[in-house]
Amino acid sequence: ADVTGKTAFITGGANGIGLGIARALVKAGANVVIADIRESSLAEAKASLAADAQVETVQLDVTDRAAFAAAADKAEARFGKIHMLIGNAGIGVMGPIMDARYDDWDWGMGVNLGGVINGLVTILPRIKAHGEGGQVVTTSSQSGLLPISYSAIYSAAKAAIIGITEAARGELGAINIGISAFCPGPVQSNISASGELRPEDKKQDTGYLQREQELEKRPNSPLWMSADEVGERVLAGIRANDLYILTHPEFAPGMQRRFDSIMASVPDEPHNDARAKEIFFLLDN
Ligand code: NAI
Repeated sequence: ADVTGKTAFITGGANGIGLGIARALVKAGANVVIADIRESSLAEAKASLAADAQVETVQLDVTDRAAFAAAADKAEARFGKIHMLIGNAGIGVMGPIMDARYDDWDWGMGVNLGGVINGLVTILPRIKAHGEGGQVVTTSSQSGLLPISYSAIYSAAKAAIIGITEAARGELGAINIGISAFCPGPVQSNISASGELRPEDKKQDTGYLQREQELEKRPNSPLWMSADEVGERVLAGIRANDLYILTHPEFAPGMQRRFDSIMASVPDEPHNDARAKEIFFLLDN
């Protein structure tokens, strides 16, 4: 999709990857509405983009559905129409599955998956209504394609995002809305400070609090990709309407191993032709 003169609504756009995407879009001539829970980061992000005519900010907790609709209203009031949804807000919720309590699951799934769902429910009808077409990017992760240990909650949300994106691809394509699942590897960002965003009501039944506080001290590695480089990759993916936007070729052998083991588990039995026909019908429609 062409982005020049179009408007993107970017959740979690005030730091890290979301800000990198915002920067790439602004450079390409798009308007951006940055929605983020961190009020102070919004002001800094706006200043660093230095393109006030193309930038609007709105404070938003993506788990708050009423506030999401109000934020979309604000975006439309400023720029007229929303063409792109970048569902990017996310938090790092990491730890052993044995320690995961309900507040950990609810917070992790609520922001990382629920935030993307709320974006789709709020903004897809608005894109459809103006009829000019659009583009959705859902921020998953490499761990949505290749889950690693100590990331059950995070990987569950990220894998679900890929499922949503793949399932929606054909339906949305039919009404001129593209959709991409963005699956980055390690990127420099503030994600290790996610713990400071955990709401009080998600601190009651948790096994992860101490781990989050330790994580906050972890510096970004210089080997991690820069958010601006990643933003340019997302822009290219938006332009090409790529189904998957990946960043790190180093994960290829792991993904190959994963899919090889899935294929190795396919029953080695003759196909039932009638059943095959029915299955192909489902896949084609
Ligand atoms: P970040 O912490 O730098 O940026 C995330 C932004 O989302 C922050 O500005 C934060 O304030 C905002 N946010 C968090 N909870 C929110 C909520 N409830 N409502 C609205 N805004 C909220 O982290 P990063 O790394 O840039 O993360 C962006 C996305 O990329 C996330 O979905 C993350 O899971 C994903 N990702 C990050 C990777 C990395 O290595 N940094 C790798 C793979 C995926």
